[in-house]
Amino acid sequence: MPSVLIKTYGCQMNERDSEQVASMFLAGGYTLTTDEAEADVILINTCAVREKAELKALGKMGLLCARPDAKPWVVYGFMGCMVQSRAQSLFRDINRLDVVTGTRQYHNVYAICNRLLKSRLGMGLTEPLKRGAHICEVGEVEGFQNEIRDHLPPSGGCTAFVSIMQGCEMRCSYCIVPSTRGAECSRPAADIIKEVRELVDHGGVKEVTLLGQIVNRYGREEPVVNGRGAFVRLLESLHDIDGLERLRFTSPHPIGFREDLVNAYTYLPKLCSHIHFPMQSGSDRILQLMRRPYKNEKYLRLCDAMREARPDLAITTDIIVGFPGETDEDYQQTKAAVERVQFDNAFVFQYSPRRDTVAAAMPDQICLRVKEERNHDLLETVNRIATARNMALVGTEQSILVEGPSKSNPDRQQGRSSQNKPVIIQKGKAEVGKIVPVRITECTGFTLYGEVGN
Ligand code: 5AD
Ligand code: SF4
Repeated sequence: MPSVLIKTYGCQMNERDSEQVASMFLAGGYTLTTDEAEADVILINTCAVREKAELKALGKMGLLCARPDAKPWVVYGFMGCMVQSRAQSLFRDINRLDVVTGTRQYHNVYAICNRLLKSRLGMGLTEPLKRGAHICEVGEVEGFQNEIRDHLPPSGGCTAFVSIMQGCEMRCSYCIVPSTRGAECSRPAADIIKEVRELVDHGGVKEVTLLGQIVNRYGREEPVVNGRGAFVRLLESLHDIDGLERLRFTSPHPIGFREDLVNAYTYLPKLCSHIHFPMQSGSDRILQLMRRPYKNEKYLRLCDAMREARPDLAITTDIIVGFPGETDEDYQQTKAAVERVQFDNAFVFQYSPRRDTVAAAMPDQICLRVKEERNHDLLETVNRIATARNMALVGTEQSILVEGPSKSNPDRQQGRSSQNKPVIIQKGKAEVGKIVPVRITECTGFTLYGEVGN
């Protein structure tokens, strides 16, 4: 039986896309492996958001293709965002590469690779190939957003990601995503509901996370019905599914974030008390340069409104430091906004110039030293606030969805709270897939420890 290894860089959308590819290989009789020496097909799903992610994927593939002891027939492929914007240069950089497929082609990867592998095996290939097959598929495919719908068989897990839309049309000046993922297109609600029902009824899934580049713009061409837009109506329909216990989504954007979504936190108890809500900057001047068409005040008001609707809401965010032209005053405004919102956590990114983006050509690029200083300084603030917020949970009772053995200590179990915080509990007290009350007894920065109650 041939085997495939899929390595994924980047966001949860990429993880989900890789799962679609993996499930098609599995259906075609392949096994999934993590062993590089064993794999007959090796695929890397790439991310282009920052240069570092690209370099990692290129470095990894370079090493894999150069293995002297590799089986000569191995098919090597790159998938996803990096491919979309630089397909041909990849073959130039790594001559042994066979296949590159873009962000609308995930459903075709299996057929392309399988055909190539079978033809190589059929040729009785014993000598390593001098060069790769150089097959490139990066075109548009009508309805491709509907093709990310298959899941791997449950492996004890009780959570699943469900892609509800693809693409982004916001064109933030720093971001490569609009050019790698293309125009926004949403899946029909009926298909999504069917997929989730299937996961709950036959996959043992208790928690679903809806994925989209800007999830709250889901179905925005549809009419508003009784004050509710398509996204909130989708949340309501999924909420009605018996057996589904938790609902999450990621990521929303202040544009198109209306009152109906704020209100949803008051009457949809399965909607978890956590939102990952990218802020990017606390300076209006920088937001404008970033081409994010709103003021920081709007972002802050939305956070306040959501917390009013759901007092225990945990808010996490993305922040870019060192955007071109960012002065110390702009940076201090970002820091002040972090203090003001009291985030439960934040990913802080140093601005990374990306090809074909407006910001890459802006004057006043910030030097690495300043980016690093701001990154370091902001993380200190973020970590202090996050730790304090976690400490405040000691002594409270949280509902924990038990997910399996703890990653750091197999003698314990791990689950997550509605606020999406990992909590370590004793073993043998609660079954995987169950939501149990847990009293939080201890906190070491980002990790919470607790005891299962009754
Ligand atoms: N440089 C640094 N960070 C970026 N992000 C997107 N583009 C860039 C870039 N060019 C960050 C944003 C986004 C997250 C996924 O990555 O904060 O929310
Ligand atoms: Fe990139 Fe902005 Fe779209 Fe997010 S909203 S994917 S940051 S362009």
